[in-house]
Amino acid sequence: MRSKTTIAALCVMAALFMTAQAGLSQQKAAEPGKFSALIEAKSTLCYPLDITFVRPAGAPKSNIPAAGFNHGPHASIACGECHHMWTGKGPVEACNTAGCHDALANRADDMAYFKAFHNKEAKMSCIGCHAKLNEELKEKGKEPLNIANCMTNICHGAAKK
Ligand code: HEC
Ligand code: HEC
Repeated sequence: MRSKTTIAALCVMAALFMTAQAGLSQQKAAEPGKFSALIEAKSTLCYPLDITFVRPAGAPKSNIPAAGFNHGPHASIACGECHHMWTGKGPVEACNTAGCHDALANRADDMAYFKAFHNKEAKMSCIGCHAKLNEELKEKGKEPLNIANCMTNICHGAAKK
């Protein structure tokens, strides 16, 4: 009898403990990021450093390995050069946000998801910017970025595991 009471009491304590933990982690999640003591952050924006793209459902099937992207080597480029619809307020939205590059099936469409990354004419697309950069590198006699072969280039080839 006594042991049953003890077990029941332990269960209640465990439940209370878990609830407290859940409350704590919820509190933690809602907490803004930790910054140095010398600033008081009024709003924050978190962004992924190293990413692998997930092909959205509805995009044509492809054998080309998923592309990777790292914000790090692009840190000297202004956010708005790529996130060209971002006004600096609120969250940065994904390229295929409704009304943007949301044409998934048709790669030729100007608003195609594919074109957001492969438009040779646009400086905010991966290929557009890298191709221009390669011209400059070649002029300076420097090694260009490997962008030509989709299977092995810096974008798709490197992310292949
Ligand atoms: C060289 C281009 C480039 C620059 C510069 C860049 N980004 Fe990105 N960023 C990307 C790409 C590509 C993605 C992934 C595309 C997507 O989310 O659809 C991305 C994704 C993001 C995401 C995640 C969006 C999502 O899908 O939820 C955030 C947030 C973000 N960037 C913030 C920033 C901020 C802040 C800066 C500047 C400090 C910045 N980016 C600079 C290209 C860039
Ligand atoms: C506005 C210009 C610009 C855009 C847009 C851009 N890049 Fe780059 N990218 C650069 C520059 C500049 C470098 C060279 C950085 C360095 O090594 O100094 C680079 C380098 C890279 C590298 C090699 C990084 C390394 O490890 O040295 C990869 C991979 C890459 N970009 C992927 C992408 C992908 C994927 C996209 C599109 C989602 C993209 N970039 C869009 C300018 C751009």
